[in-house]
Amino acid sequence: MIEIKNITKTYKTGDVEFKALNNVSFSIADGEFVAIMGPSGSGKSTLMHILGALDSPTDGTYLLDDKDVSTLSDDELADIRRDKIGFVFQSFNLLPRTTVLRNVMLPLVYAGIHGPLREKRAKNALISTGLDEAHFHHLSNQLSGGQIQRVAIARALVNNPSLILADEPTGNLDSKTGEIVIGTFQKLNKELGRTVILITHEQEIAEHADRILFIKDGELTENKTTHKKE
Ligand SMILES: Nc1ncnc2c1ncn2[C@@H]1O[C@H](COP(=O)(O)OP(=O)(O)O)[C@@H](O)[C@H]1O
Ligand SMILES: [Mg+2]
Repeated sequence: MIEIKNITKTYKTGDVEFKALNNVSFSIADGEFVAIMGPSGSGKSTLMHILGALDSPTDGTYLLDDKDVSTLSDDELADIRRDKIGFVFQSFNLLPRTTVLRNVMLPLVYAGIHGPLREKRAKNALISTGLDEAHFHHLSNQLSGGQIQRVAIARALVNNPSLILADEPTGNLDSKTGEIVIGTFQKLNKELGRTVILITHEQEIAEHADRILFIKDGELTENKTTHKKE
């Protein structure tokens, strides 16, 4: 599904160039659960933005389902992001004075899904994350960190994306809530066969993945299969 070949990303600030990714190559198969680990500033989020077609590499190729992403038009990229990819960011990006249910229905509005089906799909996505139905009509700024994170996950998967990208989804959660949230990703991966790529700095969390990619100073330093924790 994903093939990254000799990807380099150089950021330019004024006259200063900074190489955030340096000659990174790997592939990820359909249905894999992969964790990306590395110190702060090592290039993890940069890589995630490239994988999500939100940013393009300075050099190298990215094949997503055998398509060279660099050859796609902006419209085609927007379609891919909407139909194929579910994003869970560290800053949750929920609309604050808006109910949980409306937040999760939003991607369906953009996808042109109307009426009762929209609400039904949003509710099912929320239920799959284990969020109590009592919260569906609460405003998102009335929820705890763990609850917000589940809403963010529900919103990412409401369009049935085949690829789920999560940038430190458990970063601000206590370890117990983190385990619950990671359980949602595991379920999506195992039961629904979704490809999951998750950035984390916690070894405990990474061990739920099939494989861990380690990044340091913009370089892939290790690519190792785990003894997956169930
Ligand atoms: N838009 C940008 N412009 C300039 N430098 C950036 C930009 N985004 C990230 N960087 C730099 O690239 C490096 C990698 O950043 P990032 O991918 O966010 O790392 P991580 O997610 O591993 O903490 C950091 O040194 C960061 O300061
Ligand atoms: Mg980051």
